[in-house]
Amino acid sequence: MSGRKKTLLKVIILGDSGVGKTSLMQQFVNNKFSHQYKATIGADFLTKEISIDNNKQVTLQIWDTAGQERFQSLGVAFYRGADCCVLCFDVTNEKSLNNLSSWKDEFLVQSNVSNPQDFPFIIIGNKIDVDDSKKIPSLQKKLSNITSNQLGGLNYPVFETSAKDAINVEQAFEVVAKMALQQE
Ligand code: GTP
Ligand code: MG
Repeated sequence: MSGRKKTLLKVIILGDSGVGKTSLMQQFVNNKFSHQYKATIGADFLTKEISIDNNKQVTLQIWDTAGQERFQSLGVAFYRGADCCVLCFDVTNEKSLNNLSSWKDEFLVQSNVSNPQDFPFIIIGNKIDVDDSKKIPSLQKKLSNITSNQLGGLNYPVFETSAKDAINVEQAFEVVAKMALQQE
């Protein structure tokens, strides 16, 4: 049989509360955005089927987590079988940028992946629609310092997005899908 093979890819989105994890997922899956903040409780997923690499169909199962439950373990079952991890920060919130490495560590501890050195992580800096005056000063420099010093000098792909204005959201998740597929 030659039909297209369907692949389910598990993606975990982590990052501080309020950076826009839920908004990114809602924009990507449902093309919706809400200004109202409603904290995510626990974790939940949405799925979306996309085609990448010349018509290969994959289903992204995107797990949205609660930033507020940082110190409360979601349990290993939640992270088990993850194919890609998205580390999010808010380009107006320096603390959320500085916390990227603890989210990475949290993921590695909980997921216990067999290949921590080359597990696919991707970084998203969200809310680029906001006024420049509110953005983290010298963001690029700080981000590259964090990548090389705290995230292990690894060249993770970085996307600057707006869940509000749908900027770079699809592009970011397409790269997520490609990286996840390689991990499978
Ligand atoms: P937790 O569930 O608490 O972990 O937060 P979260 O990361 O899921 O953040 P959420 O998506 O709920 O967004 C937090 C707030 O930021 C909401 O008021 C959103 O409307 C707003 N927001 C999210 N993305 C953007 C964006 O791209 N631009 C702007 N201007 N606001 C955004
Ligand atoms: Mg949320």
